[in-house]
Amino acid sequence: MSDLLLGRVLSFTADPFEAGEGAARLDEAVVLEAGRIVAVGGAEALRRAHPGARVTDYGACVISAGFVDAHVHYPQTAIIASWGKRLIDWLNSYTFPEEMRFADPAYAEAVAARYLDLTRAHGTTSVCSYATIHPASVEALMAEAQARGQRIWTGKTCMDRNAPEGLRDTAQSAYDDSAALLAKWHGVGRLSYVITPRFSPTSTPAQLEAMGALWAANPSCLMQTHLSEQVDEIAWVKGLFPQARDYLDTYEAFGLLGKGGLYGHAIHLEPREKDRLREVDGSLIHCPTSNTFIGSGLFDMGGLKAAGHRIGLATDTGGGSSFSMLRTMAAAYEVGQLRGRPLHPAELWWLATQGSARSLHADHLIGNIAPGMEADLVVVDLASTPAIAQASARAETLWQALFPTIMMGDDRAIRAVWIGGTPG
Ligand code: GUN
Ligand code: ZN
Repeated sequence: MSDLLLGRVLSFTADPFEAGEGAARLDEAVVLEAGRIVAVGGAEALRRAHPGARVTDYGACVISAGFVDAHVHYPQTAIIASWGKRLIDWLNSYTFPEEMRFADPAYAEAVAARYLDLTRAHGTTSVCSYATIHPASVEALMAEAQARGQRIWTGKTCMDRNAPEGLRDTAQSAYDDSAALLAKWHGVGRLSYVITPRFSPTSTPAQLEAMGALWAANPSCLMQTHLSEQVDEIAWVKGLFPQARDYLDTYEAFGLLGKGGLYGHAIHLEPREKDRLREVDGSLIHCPTSNTFIGSGLFDMGGLKAAGHRIGLATDTGGGSSFSMLRTMAAAYEVGQLRGRPLHPAELWWLATQGSARSLHADHLIGNIAPGMEADLVVVDLASTPAIAQASARAETLWQALFPTIMMGDDRAIRAVWIGGTPG
């Protein structure tokens, strides 16, 4: 049985940062079959070519690839929007006590389901998430995503210092637990394991070395960590690793710099760090609501994209203040304005779909609408509230119609979500 969806089908044929808004393409219909996109094009032609397809008409709604959130912490779901701290205090006051609760597998399972419910309601179909140090926290999200047929990445967060008792592993146990989870889940269906040293301050050199060895032994895995998020954090890293040339060097020295490396935040980069990240084609993950909420700084999207960096977009829930990639696009726009580089709606939408998928090296599978790609779609209502409707009613172009939803939209704008060809 195939499905034929009618609406304003938005896809990309190129990167709009390079090709401008002409990188986007609009069609009238998309056909899904067995979890894949099989055709995109004009409504009449596709109706004729697929006479047996079940038709769903979404009218003037935009049908897009589902949003891809390239850096989240699902265990921080319950502490989102916690007041008044900066990074290190925020971790100690809110994050670590909450992550401690994931010692209870039942709690991990409940939050994993709640998190995937919330993100799906916001139009997000794929995420790359940190878990906690507890292997059961990985099991919980993997199993929940598997049951929903979702493409996700997650891994056990490794920490063997500067974290409270109960949230510390060791270099050896981190290696062994990560290796066992990887062997069980990596490449099973739509699931991928991601090697996850939290960040240099919470790993000894021995643990970073162990994570580097695990990555070298499993090069098909991605590796995720945090880099140069706050000025105080960078000073702390310099004190902990006096030999390091800079923050990135604390990863580079232990085999944790490379293509397939995901470096969250990457705000306060030295010229050498930018050069090395560009040379190895590492992924920088922009987390704009987190960077303003925790007071971290303004990511240089314009400069880094122009220099050719691979960049994804992410909520960083719960340091980020929203589950919504629409809200995240809005924050990326605002940060761009503060840096003198307003991002075009095509650039924002591309970042939240293809750009994030590309940062996860999965842009051949997800993040766009094209024949052969996996059928993860979001259907977006461009008139979801009176405030948005009255602004988009004036629009003369698609981008003018879309921008009020980017700036003011939330889960009310999400008319439908399709995951693996199944509506929800
Ligand atoms: N740096 C290390 N851990 C974290 C985290 O959980 N959230 C954010 N925003 N930064 C981090
Ligand atoms: Zn993070």
